Amino acid sequence: MASTAPATAARKLTEYFSLSQARVDRWRAVHRLARKLAAGSQLTDSLRAQAAEELAALTPIEDLCAYPGPRLLGTLKERLQTGDWAAFARLAQRISISLLSNSYRDDADAWNSEEENEPHAPEVQGTFSARAEARKPYFEVLVVTPGERATWAQTRESLRRLRRDTDSFVYEPVVVGSFEDAALAAILNYNIQSVVIFDGFPYPSQYAVPDLREILAAHVSADATANADLGTTLARALKNYRPELDVFLATDRNVGQLAGSDEAAPIRRVFYGVEELLEIHLSILDGIGDRYATPYFDNLKKYAQRPIGTFHALPIARGKSIFKSNWIRDMGEFYGTNLFLAESSATTGGLDSLLEPTGNIKVAQEKAARALGGDRTFFVTNGTSTSNKIVHMALLSPGDIVLIDRDCHKSHHYGLVLAGAQPYYIDAFPLTQYSMYGSLAIRPIKEALLNLKAEGKLDRAKMLVLTNCTFDGHVANVEQTMLECLAIKPDLVFLWDEAWFGFARFSPFLRRRTAMGAGAKIREMLRDPAYRERYNAFKAQVGEIDPKNRKLLDTPLLPDPDKVRLRIYETDSVHKSMSALRQSSIIVAMDQDFHTVEPMFKEAVFTHSSTSPNLQIIATLDLARRQMELEGYELVQRAIQLAIELRQDINTHPLISKYFHAATPAEMVPAQYRQSGFSDYGVAGWSLAKTIKALQTDEFFLDPTRVTLLCGNAGYDGSQFKALLSNEYDIQINKTSRNSVLVQININNTRSDVAHLIKALADMSREIEKRLADGGAPTQESFRARVKSLVTDVPDLPDFSRFHDAFRENPKATSNEGDMRSAFYLAANPASCEYVKINGKEIDERLKNGPEVVSAKFVIPYPPGFPILVPGQVVTQETITFMRKLDVKEIHGYNASLGLECLRPDALAALKGKASTAATAAPAPERTPTKPQPVGA
Ligand SMILES: Cc1ncc(COP(=O)(O)O)c(C=O)c1O
Repeated sequence: MASTAPATAARKLTEYFSLSQARVDRWRAVHRLARKLAAGSQLTDSLRAQAAEELAALTPIEDLCAYPGPRLLGTLKERLQTGDWAAFARLAQRISISLLSNSYRDDADAWNSEEENEPHAPEVQGTFSARAEARKPYFEVLVVTPGERATWAQTRESLRRLRRDTDSFVYEPVVVGSFEDAALAAILNYNIQSVVIFDGFPYPSQYAVPDLREILAAHVSADATANADLGTTLARALKNYRPELDVFLATDRNVGQLAGSDEAAPIRRVFYGVEELLEIHLSILDGIGDRYATPYFDNLKKYAQRPIGTFHALPIARGKSIFKSNWIRDMGEFYGTNLFLAESSATTGGLDSLLEPTGNIKVAQEKAARALGGDRTFFVTNGTSTSNKIVHMALLSPGDIVLIDRDCHKSHHYGLVLAGAQPYYIDAFPLTQYSMYGSLAIRPIKEALLNLKAEGKLDRAKMLVLTNCTFDGHVANVEQTMLECLAIKPDLVFLWDEAWFGFARFSPFLRRRTAMGAGAKIREMLRDPAYRERYNAFKAQVGEIDPKNRKLLDTPLLPDPDKVRLRIYETDSVHKSMSALRQSSIIVAMDQDFHTVEPMFKEAVFTHSSTSPNLQIIATLDLARRQMELEGYELVQRAIQLAIELRQDINTHPLISKYFHAATPAEMVPAQYRQSGFSDYGVAGWSLAKTIKALQTDEFFLDPTRVTLLCGNAGYDGSQFKALLSNEYDIQINKTSRNSVLVQININNTRSDVAHLIKALADMSREIEKRLADGGAPTQESFRARVKSLVTDVPDLPDFSRFHDAFRENPKATSNEGDMRSAFYLAANPASCEYVKINGKEIDERLKNGPEVVSAKFVIPYPPGFPILVPGQVVTQETITFMRKLDVKEIHGYNASLGLECLRPDALAALKGKASTAATAAPAPERTPTKPQPVGA
C-alpha cells in the first residue's frame, strides 16, 4: 500500500542549511504525490489534501522566485482542483525537474505548461525570444516596491518591455513588497544578481511564517525598525549578506544629498523616483557586465583568434608541430586547438605582464580584490607555496620574529629560512586520537606575545602566521584572534594561509571567519565611536598590558584604536576551491601600510615568479573570479548542504555507521573551544540559529565541507583505505591520517557523487560483515586487534621541543624563537652533519646522556604533512617514539637507510663559540621600533 505520510513532514525548512535545497525537496514531494494521484491511488482525497498543503507551504517561497512564476503555479493549482491528475503530474514533473536541473534558465519550454501549443504567454515570449539564437546568461532582478500587489504584474511587464536583442544578458524581475520578503528572496533565490529598491515599503512580510522568520533572523541582521529609512537599511543588509549584489535605489528623497552620503555607500546608483526605468534597466545590465567581464581571459581569446606567426621560443604556440606530428598528434587531439592558439608570452606584446601588470592583468587583479574583499590582490601561478614565500620575503627582514603554527604548510618554514626571520613555534592543540593537530588557540599566541614583551623583544615580533582553515577543517575565530593580538602588538602583521578556504568568502556564514571578512569588520569597528567607548571602558578596567599579568591570558583583550595598524594578508589556492587550473593562487592584502612594503613586495614577486608564467593559469584566475562573483553564493551554499547531508547519511546509516564515521564538530574541536556547545550539523536538535551562534562565538568552528571519515573501526588505516577507495571504487579522496581519510566536498560535487561514496561504504561494510561471519572467531579476534591498534594505540604527537642553544640568542629565555636559517645553512656543509639511526642504540644513549641530537633538516612525514623536526631543533624521545611508530612510507627529509641527518656536536660547538665571540666583539644593533600611527592616517 502506498504510504500516505506527508513527504516533507520529517524536515522543516529550518532544518535545512540551504533554503533553496528545501524548496527543491518540497517540489520533489509535490511531484511524488502527483505521480501517485496519476497512478490512480485509492487515497485520492488524502493525497490531494497533502498536495494542496505542500503547494500552500510553497506559496510564500515561490513568490520570491521568477520560475515557475504565478502563471504556471496558477495552472498547477487549477489542475489539482479539477482533478486532472495526468496533467497535474506532467506539470509537477516539469517544474520539479526544471528546478532540480536549473534548465529553466536556458529552456523556453520549461516556462510552458506542456500542452501549451498556443503561443507563450507574453512574459515568457519576451524572456526567450531574444535567447533563441545564442544562449544569454539568465538572472533575476529583485524589485522591492511599496506598490499594491495588484500593480506588481505591471511592474514586471514594464521592465520586460525594455529588453533589446542586443542585451548580453536576460533577466526576469521578481517583485516583493516588504523588507522581510526582500531579504528572504536574497537568501533563497540565488538567481538574484541585482536589486532595485523603490523606497517606501513596509517591514513585515505579507506572510506570517514562523520558520521563514527564524531563517531570516539567522541570516540577516538588520537594525530595521518601523521608523527607520528602510531603503538604505535594506541595501546595507543585502550587501552585507551577499556583497556581490548590485543594489539600486529609487527614491523621492533628496537624491543629490543622499548619493554622496555614507548611507548610500553600498548602493551602486541612486535614482530619483521611477522616472528613469530605462536607465535602471541599463544599469542592471551594466552591473552584470562588469562582473561578467574577464579582461585577461577575454583578451586571450581574442589573441588566440589572430593569425599570428611566431618567431619566439614558443614551439607549441599555434600547434603546428603538434597537429602535423607523426608521433604526438594525440597531444593536439586531447588538449584541443585553443590551448595551442592561446599559448604565448608576455614579451610578445598585447597580453600584459604578470610581473609588472599595467593592463588587463591589473584590472583582473582589481576585480579579484573586489570579489575577495581585499584592497589589492596579486595573481600567482606557482601555487600558494609561492604566494606564502612572496609574503614572507616582502614583509620580513633577517632577525624578525614570526609567531607561527608549527604544523603549518612547509612553504612557511622554507619562507622563513629564505627571509632569515626567526620562527617562534607555537603548537596547535593535538587530536592525538586521529593522529592530527587541530589549530592554534588564541591563548598560546597571547602567551608568546607576552613572553616577547616581557623579554623586551616585542618590537621584533613582526608577523603571525596561521592556517585557516586547516587541512582538516578547523576554522579560527579570525576576528577575535586579531583583536587580541593587536591589543598586545598593535602593528602585528597577519598572514592567514587560506589555501583551502578561498570559497568561504562566498558563503555568508563562513565569510566572517575569513581574513578579509574579519578584517573588514575590524576596520569598520575601529572607526566607530562606540568602539572607542568600549575600549576606554576596557582600558579603565585592565590598565596597560602588563606581561606579568597572567590574567590577561584569559581576558578578552581589545586593541587601542589610536595605535592599531591593520595589516592583513591572505593567501588562497584558488585551484583548491574554485574553478581554476592547478597552481593558480592569489595573495589578497588589506594593509594600511602597504606603501611602506610595496617596493619589497615587487622584489619578492620578481624573486619567486617565473618569467614565463602560464597564461592559462592567469586566465582561469580571472574566470574563477567571474564565476564566484556571479554564482559563488549558489555553488557554495549547495556544497555546504551536500556536505551536511553526506555527514548525516554516513552517521545515521545502520550498517555503514558500524564501521565508518564522519567525525563531528564535537569530536574534532575540544569542548573548551566550542563555547556555544555546538556539536553537529543537521542532527536532531540542530538549528541554523545554533550554527550561527557557534560561528559567532566559538574559538574554533569545523568547516562542514571537510569531512574526516574515520575508517579505523573498519580495520583500515588511512593509506589502505585511500587505496581501496581509489582502486576498487574509483573514488579519490584528499589526505589520510593513521585512522582516517579526508573527504572534501567542493563546488564541483553533486548528489550523485555523494551517492557513489555512500554506495561504496555500504558495499565495504557488507563485505566486512561477511568476512567476519565467514571467518569465525579467529578472524573476528584479529579484526578486533587491528581496530584496537588503529583506534586506541595511537602515538602521542610530538610538540616542538626547542632550538639548540647554538641557534638562540638567549637560551634561558622563555620565548623559543631560533635562528633556523643558520642551522639550515650549517647543514649545507656535509662535514657538519652526521646520520643517526632512529632504531639504533646510539640515539637512545644520546637522548639519555648527550650530546644532544640536533636535526639538520626539515623532517616531514606525509601524512600528516607537518614538520616533526626543523633544522636546529633538538631531537627528543617523543619525536623518536613517534617516528618509530609512524607507518607512513613518505617522510620528506629522512632517509631510512642512512638514518636521521643531524648536526654534529663539534659543528654546533664551533658555531656557538663563533657566536659568543661575535657577541662580545660587537653587540647586535638595537632596532628602532616603527612609530605606530592611528588607523586611517
Ligand atoms: C595550508 C596550506 N598552505 C599552502 C599550501 C600550498 O598550496 P599550493 O598547493 O597551492 O602550492 C597547501 C597545500 O596543500 C596547504 O595545505
